[in-house]
Amino acid sequence: MVKTESFRGRDFITLLDYSREEVETLLEVALDLKRKFAVGEPHKLLDTKTLFMIFYNQSLRTRNSFEAGMTQLGGHAHFLDPSKIYAPALEGDEKAYSTERVSDVARVLSRMGHGIAIRCYGEPVGWVYGRANEIVNNFAYWADIPVINMEDDKYHPCQALADLLTVKEKFGTFRGVRFVMSWAYSPSVHKPLAVPQSAVIAATKMGMDTVLAHPKGMELDDEVIAKCRQYAEENGSGFDIVYDMDEAFEGADVVYPKAWTCRGSIPPWNPTPELDKSQELFDKNKHWICDDEKMRTAGPKAVYMHCLPCDRGFEVTNSVIDGPQSVVFDQAENRLHVQKAVMALTMR
Ligand code: CP
Repeated sequence: MVKTESFRGRDFITLLDYSREEVETLLEVALDLKRKFAVGEPHKLLDTKTLFMIFYNQSLRTRNSFEAGMTQLGGHAHFLDPSKIYAPALEGDEKAYSTERVSDVARVLSRMGHGIAIRCYGEPVGWVYGRANEIVNNFAYWADIPVINMEDDKYHPCQALADLLTVKEKFGTFRGVRFVMSWAYSPSVHKPLAVPQSAVIAATKMGMDTVLAHPKGMELDDEVIAKCRQYAEENGSGFDIVYDMDEAFEGADVVYPKAWTCRGSIPPWNPTPELDKSQELFDKNKHWICDDEKMRTAGPKAVYMHCLPCDRGFEVTNSVIDGPQSVVFDQAENRLHVQKAVMALTMR
């Protein structure tokens, strides 16, 4: 375990900013807090402290796990809807008396509380890839208190940490675990890249044998792929990209099939997105569904993961997500425990 003092005051925007040892420490603290919660042992580590949560997008798991988590830690999570405040905006995107510059919002909230958490991706930034991440980073630049990323358009580190805790609980180790992040079909072409990108970053960082599977045209960010290759090399573990779901599932310990958008749908990769062409590409790949046959290919010991919400009947069949190999509700529960660890260590 690394010195927990080293976490104090830090932002939590992407797992790229945390070492493997620091991630191990976060998971150990999360397990300790999970045990305390299970046996009713008080753990008011953030007594009277406030987390401001700015949600540009909808949420079930993230909002409720942060709110419940802050209550359990003895503090308060305050929900902020950008349409009910002056929506925090970057310089150049401001509208008089309707928005407020991020630098001002960050400094005001820093005078009143102990952490700022932000969810922003997609529609609020016109689906321009990287713009939401810029907002989160701009908050971090100006705030004097930790900034926590509750999902932007590049990263969803809280989800990835919960996924890691779930794998650790199921397999007891990361070494030798074959982790398959796979694209799956959805009728919606607008799905963020944050979950798959954070999942492969987390898996390779922790030394899992990681496989990324998707149809051609659904590539993730090149910078993310480069980091995954670097981590796999450092750890002496595998990182492969394949274009066939069955091939990826062969011998998998973890399968994580989920839709994400294609480059054709989003600027700046495509400055003039042609959504009908993206829809065509998606619809050609309806067979990328996690069904019983795919789970048989993976084998009886494999677990099925999804961050939720999922598109039932498209990404996955009911029989798989409701079946014995599914661990999706463990993942959802673990959001609570890992986020409490992040808050307890950074916001003390
Ligand atoms: N997985 C996840 O972040 O869920 P919500 O969108 O419900 O917060």
